[in-house]
Amino acid sequence: MKKTDTDGELKWYEKKAGRRMNFSGAVCKDDGKKAKGGKRADTKSEYKAGCKYERKNEGSAGGNSAEGKDFHKKVRGTEKKSFRVQKDFVAARQVDFLLDAGSVPSDAKKILADFRDIIGATHPLNSKQRADLPRQILELSHTLTDERAERRLGYMNRPQTLSAYTHYYLWWNLVRLTRLFSNLPSSFFEFPDGTVCLDVGSGPLTVPIAVFLSRPELRKKKLRWYCMDISPQALSIGENLLMTVAARLECESWEVVRVKGGFGTPVKEKVSFVTCANVFNEVGEESNMPPDYLAKKYCEKILSYIMEEKPSENGAGDFRKVLLIEPGIPSSARLLSLMRDAMIRRGFSPVSPCPHAAQCPMDGKRGGKWCNFAFGTQDAPAALKKLSESARLPKERAVLSFVALTAAEKKSGDAGELSFRVASDPIHLPGSRTGYYACSEIGLLLVVTEDSLRSGECLSIPRPEKKLSVDEKSGAFVVEL
Ligand SMILES: C[S@@+](CC[C@H](N)C(=O)[O-])C[C@H]1O[C@@H](n2cnc3c(N)ncnc32)[C@H](O)[C@@H]1O
Repeated sequence: MKKTDTDGELKWYEKKAGRRMNFSGAVCKDDGKKAKGGKRADTKSEYKAGCKYERKNEGSAGGNSAEGKDFHKKVRGTEKKSFRVQKDFVAARQVDFLLDAGSVPSDAKKILADFRDIIGATHPLNSKQRADLPRQILELSHTLTDERAERRLGYMNRPQTLSAYTHYYLWWNLVRLTRLFSNLPSSFFEFPDGTVCLDVGSGPLTVPIAVFLSRPELRKKKLRWYCMDISPQALSIGENLLMTVAARLECESWEVVRVKGGFGTPVKEKVSFVTCANVFNEVGEESNMPPDYLAKKYCEKILSYIMEEKPSENGAGDFRKVLLIEPGIPSSARLLSLMRDAMIRRGFSPVSPCPHAAQCPMDGKRGGKWCNFAFGTQDAPAALKKLSESARLPKERAVLSFVALTAAEKKSGDAGELSFRVASDPIHLPGSRTGYYACSEIGLLLVVTEDSLRSGECLSIPRPEKKLSVDEKSGAFVVEL
């Protein structure tokens, strides 16, 4: 879209947002001449077909630019159209940012910072166990990653493993999940009193605790959580933890119904909200079936728990929702993308992170991009980072893949806009510019900009009127901001 106006008048999409924006969503002081567009209208791009790409974050893990193997080394081909210079730049407005640390409630931050004391109160360690904790954490880390094949079902029933999980993994997962849940649209967490929820593979109730911390508007609601796991000990610790957290926040805890059993175990009533975090990579590991088969099977099981659609009474809405979160690794992102497809076929719509309900362009197929989001751990509790270091597992980034879906009818977006969600690390391009892979309704985008975009940021631009050039290697449409 051609940039034309630098006359100080708000553009149509700025009027809509009620303010002038720069690319990170900050309100510009200037009348626009120094805002992106004005400056960029004069910019002479130095791009040429065949120019070299460099990776900015060599050592980082999790982002699409950090995948290494399929990373662009070059834009191949000499045809100009493969990476044509786009002279028309567009301005963008920020829609949301999934991983904004500022959205986490301050009382939740305090609980997370003090989590060692909270877990110490419900599940104390003697001095020998405390001294041995870093070794147990490292051992569990191998069990959960490179030695997965040897992991026994019910490993969480082993006291040392459960202890390492609750003192360490639960804490990190709460940091990840509270960051995410605090930033999901509030409509996604709209539930009436009496809503029945199910958390599959609940372990020490990580998801219910993270929801309680992140969504203060739900703390006083009467929710009933069925928490299902093959490890009853983990559930019991989790229930105590939820009660302790609720007491610290001066609230009553939610009702918890522990369900000892595997995914598929019947529960006594139909539910509205199903959550599953970090569980499918375990449930499916014994199966040699392909991921599309597993995705369909898991979705059928999830749907078997969810209540039939009720005609709306007294204007009451449809509160049926599903939230799936997995580690930010390609195989998990692939499974989630397939589960998203299966749920869409059953009438659900993605709420986040997808800015659309069209085909997933970051579906993790071999050689392709995979949907995951990462944030730096600078805001994580100091005591947790220290524990990571003592377990020789220093963590600079937290990464996750997820999909949130609703059965409710979703309002369609503005047809004049194209929204995209950034889902990669920055890729350093020549001419002090940077590229980012992003997901959009029209497919994968390579967003090229001089500005710093963040993993998880959703931006909106006027829908391109001209045909976009295509990056030959990735097949992404090239958008210049
Ligand atoms: C990595 S932990 C995740 C716990 C929690 N959801 C979290 O995010 O911290 C995986 C959990 O899934 C449970 N699990 C494994 N296979 C299961 C199955 N087939 N059905 C139910 N739970 C299962 C394990 O016992 C364990 O508590």
